[in-house]
Amino acid sequence: MTEYNFDEIIDRTRHSSAKWGVVESDCLPMWVADMDFRSPPSAINAMIERARHGVFGYTLDPPKLKEVVVERMSRLYNWEITPDDVIFSPGLVLALCATCSGFGKPCDSVLIQTPVYGSFFKAVRTNRKFSANLDMIYVADSASSFHYECDYDAFEQVARDPQTSIHLQCNPQNPAGFQYSREDLEQIGEICLKHDVLIVADEIHSDLILEGEHIPIATLSEEIAQQTLTMIAPSKTYNLAGMACSVLIAQNKEIRDTIAAALAGISAHVNIMGYEAAHGAYTGGEAWLRQLLLYLKDNRDYAVNYIRRHIPQIKTTVPTSTYLLWLDMRDLPIKGDADSFCRSSAGIAPTPGTFFGDSHEGFVRLNFGCPRSVLQEGLERLKAAVDRLTVTS
Ligand SMILES: Cc1ncc(COP(=O)(O)O)c(C=O)c1O
Repeated sequence: MTEYNFDEIIDRTRHSSAKWGVVESDCLPMWVADMDFRSPPSAINAMIERARHGVFGYTLDPPKLKEVVVERMSRLYNWEITPDDVIFSPGLVLALCATCSGFGKPCDSVLIQTPVYGSFFKAVRTNRKFSANLDMIYVADSASSFHYECDYDAFEQVARDPQTSIHLQCNPQNPAGFQYSREDLEQIGEICLKHDVLIVADEIHSDLILEGEHIPIATLSEEIAQQTLTMIAPSKTYNLAGMACSVLIAQNKEIRDTIAAALAGISAHVNIMGYEAAHGAYTGGEAWLRQLLLYLKDNRDYAVNYIRRHIPQIKTTVPTSTYLLWLDMRDLPIKGDADSFCRSSAGIAPTPGTFFGDSHEGFVRLNFGCPRSVLQEGLERLKAAVDRLTVTS
């Protein structure tokens, strides 16, 4: 078996990396959801092979990639879709924007459970809709960790409002790193069907499962499938975000036509190299992915144990998916917000809690998709800053 070296430190500072480019040079970037790992060789080789052809004119959606997606959904979830159900988009944020512009009426509400990936709000706002935000219920597991649960009475109250036409769902959940259970999804599906709310399932993190399973909501029933637009991508899984190739699945023709028309109004086509990278990753990246998941799980355990043992003033989620830790720093005696403290006192740059909803100022999200030594360094810096705080307070 080929060994992939996830411990290797790869310098990204000279390659226009968003993650590394916008933080001060003495600050460790642990924010945006991309990993500091090289993509699988199958993805890299597919792009090299295509580059050798040397002609890069306008391209069609590759039928072979649609077939790969169809086979993948069947293999992973027993989800039987057809190539016609598959649409490509240069990125999921764009698809979220197209969704908010293409479905419902102007000024409709979009139901969103928070904390959640901040571009959801942006997609809603910039497309003349309102976000109806519903804070999930914070549940402390112990003195050091917590998780979220959903309040379905509150959910239904929002869904029942005639102005609510869309529910944007994030499963696996970013930033909290959990998968919705079958029971959760059944409740969501039932409520959305009952009140005629379109389910938009952003499942971009669905390959990054550290424990348990991921259930695409569209697999629950034919009725739910007919009311769902699912979004997946190889970008998080295989670290290909810069290649901007994402996949939408809609089994309902009306939904498919609407999203395709909305996308056509605002976007260009996917880049040739994006298609090649996606195809290479999906067809040849499984061994790489298996090893990545083991590495990420060890990183998760390392980080959670470190925080429990050395920085018990900070509470953390214990993610079962993604490479994201969601930290509750509200018990620290810091002035200002948690993100500024991390940047100015600890020299690490997480994603600020408020990106995930206005009420999350005391939280930050930490990306552990990096070599273990970098994670260790980041946590040590955080511990040192918290220790200084305790001494001076
Ligand atoms: C839930 C979720 N959706 C979408 C995106 C971004 O997708 P893209 O890079 O394809 O626009 C992210 C990136 O972090 C994400 O976490």
